[in-house]
Amino acid sequence: MILITGGTGLVGSHLLYELVKKEQKVRALKRPTSKTENVLKTFRYYSDNPEELFSKIEWVEGDVSDITFLEDAMQGVSKVYHCAAMVSFETRDRKKMLETNIMGTANVVNACLGTKIEKLCFVSSTAALGDKSGAGLVDESTIWKPSKSHSWYSVSKFKSEMEVWRGMEEGLKAVIVNPSVVLGPGDWNRSSGRIMKSVWDGLKFYTLGVTGFVDVRDVVKAMIELMEGEIIGERYIISSENLSYKEVFGMIANAFNKKPPNIHATPFLTSIAWRLDWMRSKILNKQALVTRESARSGHRKVYFSNQKIKDIIGMEFRLLIDTIQETAEFFLKEKQ
Ligand SMILES: NC(=O)c1ccc[n+]([C@@H]2O[C@H](COP(=O)([O-])OP(=O)(O)OC[C@H]3O[C@@H](n4cnc5c(N)ncnc54)[C@H](OP(=O)(O)O)[C@@H]3O)[C@@H](O)[C@H]2O)c1
Repeated sequence: MILITGGTGLVGSHLLYELVKKEQKVRALKRPTSKTENVLKTFRYYSDNPEELFSKIEWVEGDVSDITFLEDAMQGVSKVYHCAAMVSFETRDRKKMLETNIMGTANVVNACLGTKIEKLCFVSSTAALGDKSGAGLVDESTIWKPSKSHSWYSVSKFKSEMEVWRGMEEGLKAVIVNPSVVLGPGDWNRSSGRIMKSVWDGLKFYTLGVTGFVDVRDVVKAMIELMEGEIIGERYIISSENLSYKEVFGMIANAFNKKPPNIHATPFLTSIAWRLDWMRSKILNKQALVTRESARSGHRKVYFSNQKIKDIIGMEFRLLIDTIQETAEFFLKEKQ
């Protein structure tokens, strides 16, 4: 039996799909508020028999903040994929995000150690890696250093990854993946799905910052291969291409048949934008569209190396242009 946390999210739902398709027995964690219909939507997109595959999932209801629940959920389990996390760049989510990501991961690690799980796969992030600021490729050995320029999401992912390394020191067998920005069919009101939505909603501005992007199916493929192999005690960057936001927004706009964003948002302009948007979100009590952290990262140029995962499992990545095209089709179908 395999246990998956975060099964109702973008990465987790694709992982569930691949595992049940391979006829693996899976147990997935959901919260009382989780929308399992999003998982079914993903299954419908890929399969002719989605309901049948979906019915093979054993759902258990609980939260990663509850270690007793996690220990119970791990009974009879040999492998754990820990995908649950909060992905947010909003100040009001900071406390909850740090708690969910760091304490939640510590709980998963401790429950794995307590129940003698064979192997854990932890979904970290490139946000848990160091930043060479344009001076060469970031790889798995680029150390994250404390800095005021890190987002709180980055802090939370670095510290949660540290919990996994701590677990490995205590005897846990684990492997870590560090995906860059993950795109693929899913809920476009959460996580990286919001990037697609903002362009659909008529985003006018672009920045010249660069980061890595990857298809969710490639992330899941790498995770499964790493879990099925012998490798432990390593981390792997999972990233297909390094592209500017301008290029990616342009690709998304084309896929939606919309006008690409055509106003260059300079650092000065974005510093005004996030302040105005902060006020708008406070007055209307709505989610902020631009935050100080997202504005900052929009200008940063970071290039990731994917050589390590290519060398170890011969990984071949999908092209982002195809991922965006297919993801846009999924969203358009949903809209209808
Ligand atoms: N998306 C990206 O671009 C990206 C890039 C790099 C790394 N990652 C990492 O990949 C992992 C999955 O991200 P994603 O994009 O799939 O995120 P997502 O779509 O927002 O899904 C997050 C998942 O975590 C669950 N979760 C959140 N708080 C929880 C809690 N307290 N207890 C139990 N479950 C909880 C959510 O459950 P509900 O459905 O109940 O909310 C959901 O299943 C995360 O670790 C993230 O940091 C993501």
